[in-house]
Amino acid sequence: MARRKIGVIGGGFVGSTTAQRLAEKELGDVVLVDIVDGMPQGKALDLVQAGPVCGYDSVVEGANDYSSLEGAELVIITAGMPRKPGMDRSDLLRVNGEIQQKVVSGIMEFAPSAMLVIVSNPLDVMCYVAHQVSGLPKNKVVGMAGVLDTARYRAFLAMEVGCSVRDIQAMVLGGHGDSMIPLTSTASVSGIPVQQLISAERLEALVDRTRHGGAEIVNLLKTGSAYYAPSASAVAMAESILLDQKRIMPCCSLLEGQYGIEDTWVGVPVILGSDGVEKIIEVELSSAESEALQASAAAVHDGQTEVAQMINIT
Ligand code: LAC
Repeated sequence: MARRKIGVIGGGFVGSTTAQRLAEKELGDVVLVDIVDGMPQGKALDLVQAGPVCGYDSVVEGANDYSSLEGAELVIITAGMPRKPGMDRSDLLRVNGEIQQKVVSGIMEFAPSAMLVIVSNPLDVMCYVAHQVSGLPKNKVVGMAGVLDTARYRAFLAMEVGCSVRDIQAMVLGGHGDSMIPLTSTASVSGIPVQQLISAERLEALVDRTRHGGAEIVNLLKTGSAYYAPSASAVAMAESILLDQKRIMPCCSLLEGQYGIEDTWVGVPVILGSDGVEKIIEVELSSAESEALQASAAAVHDGQTEVAQMINIT
């Protein structure tokens, strides 16, 4: 049986690290697509040459067009401009909305039934664009944000408690921006509520650091944004889909009444399996958390309306 084919669009730091992680996990053969002549081909060849050392037989191919995506089961879209210091993700709306429209149209020409995992920012609105442009059923489009935001939150909680990251369970809901909602009521360390181990003041500080986790790295790097944790998060989602693991992960999905939210792409817990977003899970939220989710979704919906006018999505 031939190995699966997985596409990665965008050969920058996020895309190339994503391709590396996919190859190292041998989740399938990888096609790395970028518009820059020679760049994806060079990175792909470099990754193939790492195979004998790292012990993987995944074939990685670089391409400057979408034809190599023929037969791809899943495509991870990282293409787009990264933020610069001082920029908000929503500042990328027009430029990345136009890129997303072109990229998704290109993918659909050669892999019309591929599952799409969106990474490009502003993430939630880019999921809306991908769904509208692709015409795919809603369960076949999913956004990577909550897994990343939750990873940051879990890392900060583990540092604070002084424990293994493995033992932290937590979840971040909402839009991938300052309005995201790191849940404090359900965060735990080996079943122990974090509120028994961390003061309310420190917990709020960690919640705030999580909200600004992306910007903290953008400000440190100055010329780009994070890629190790984003790529790891996207690959964890791809693995759950490709191997039908049915993991419950916070992902950007289309809400159609769940949580009292209509027609908006926002991060909520979902079951990720071979059929993509197989179920949206409605967890009980405190009134404050519920209000915050509504507000976060409203901001995303405004972005959906704005981008639809900008790039003429009907
Ligand atoms: C970040 C990008 C992926 O949060 O939005 O680093």
